Amino acid sequence: MSPERVRFPVRISLLGCGTVGGGVIQLIEENAEYLASRVGAPLEIKHVLVRDMEKDRVPQCRPEWLTDDPERVLGDEGTDLVVEVMGGEDPAREYVERAIALGKGVVTANKYLLAKHGTRLVDQAIERGVDLAFEASVGGGIPVIRTLREALTSDWVESVHAIMNGTCNFVLTKMRDEGTGFDDAVAEAQRLGYAEADPSLDVGGHDAAQKLVVMSMLAFGARVDVEEVPVEGITEIDQLDFQFADRFGLTIKHLAIGHDRGDSIALRVHPAMIPKSSVLANIDGVLNGAFIQGRALGPCLLVGQGAGDMPTAVSVVADLVDVARSKIEGEPGLATRGIQMKQRKLMPLSEVTSRYYLRFDVADDPGVLATVAGALGRHGVSIEQMVQDGQATKPGEAVPILIITHTSKEGSVRDALKEVAESPFMRGAPRLIRIEDA
Ligand code: NAP
Ligand code: HSE
Repeated sequence: MSPERVRFPVRISLLGCGTVGGGVIQLIEENAEYLASRVGAPLEIKHVLVRDMEKDRVPQCRPEWLTDDPERVLGDEGTDLVVEVMGGEDPAREYVERAIALGKGVVTANKYLLAKHGTRLVDQAIERGVDLAFEASVGGGIPVIRTLREALTSDWVESVHAIMNGTCNFVLTKMRDEGTGFDDAVAEAQRLGYAEADPSLDVGGHDAAQKLVVMSMLAFGARVDVEEVPVEGITEIDQLDFQFADRFGLTIKHLAIGHDRGDSIALRVHPAMIPKSSVLANIDGVLNGAFIQGRALGPCLLVGQGAGDMPTAVSVVADLVDVARSKIEGEPGLATRGIQMKQRKLMPLSEVTSRYYLRFDVADDPGVLATVAGALGRHGVSIEQMVQDGQATKPGEAVPILIITHTSKEGSVRDALKEVAESPFMRGAPRLIRIEDA
């Protein structure tokens, strides 16, 4: 590294100063000297793009940095690196593409943008010889991306089972441990800064699906269309499901799951019942966890804060340090060049096998149990355990029938459920929750 280069600051502009951007500014300002020693030059903030100039910001954010004019930021030749922490698809995509085209390194926390356009943005960054770093887009403060991109580059990742949405994990934990209602738990996650601007992206499972797609770029070298990943959220889970899970020695987690099946990859995002003794079962609250199975390595578990201002800022600033260092050392784009992806076939969900928890809320009539069991049998789904608890106390009241199946093909289970769903004794749609061993 030449001494002349070291004397100059690395100039950074932020797109966004909300939960994550505020944390990034705090970390940069409070640790300025230490970060300068890690980078080899000081990090200097030039511009901070926001929508609302009147809003209160973290005290470390100097008013002279703030602007609501994107041209002041993107048109500034003096900016070396751009940090995109505004979220969403547009205009974030346009701004990131412009920054890359201008030869600026980009750090982003935006999994939505990466899941939809990540492969193209990576291609653009490689072609332009700049870095596109995105550690904070997956698992908040946990180094999932670095682990997959660097530490496991010498191995094949066979599978990933991950708790990837802090809001879902927080809500499920509050519901299970404190009996909190779904809406109240979501409101608390919003207040704590865990949820997306639109929390239906969290509880609907889409945020975790976006993270799974980003992880798959590195774990399985896959270009995947996020719209093709089967997604279920946690909005249907209720206290009765928790009670039955408990009775079977299980707990409920929202999981993002990926398997490399050789000629295809199997990706899915949904709530799952997992044994209380499994590695992911006790990762509670806003914590995230990624349980990675490497062919040579075997199991590897990463756990940590999956959302929130400072944990996420830790990942963003770590990326900034890397990108700034490679820039001043004259090797920009090195980490991004290591990412190799190709189109990979997605295994249809109907082909996936699992054990299933099935819940049928039914009229308390004779023959109902036999009809349900018969439909499952006709479709080759074998029953491991069955529970029918209680009885209706007034006419028309539903009672639940619970069935745990042996390992079955999802397509067969779905066909059986379709048959049962049409029966006159059904009170609501049958419920299916997969049982995983992770
Ligand atoms: P946020 O609190 O809503 O902050 C967004 C910031 O971007 C705000 O400062 C907003 O300006 C600004 N902004 C949005 N659209 C803009 C536009 N069109 N022009 C100018 N400024 C605009 O969001 P966040 O929670 O920090 O999340 C930021 C990104 O990090 C998202 O991609 C999110 O998915 C990701 N992420 C978040 C977390 C977390 O725990 N929150 C964790 C990991 C990753 P105003 O302040 O003026 O409204
Ligand atoms: N809304 C996200 C979550 C933020 O709850 O996990 C972290 O990506």
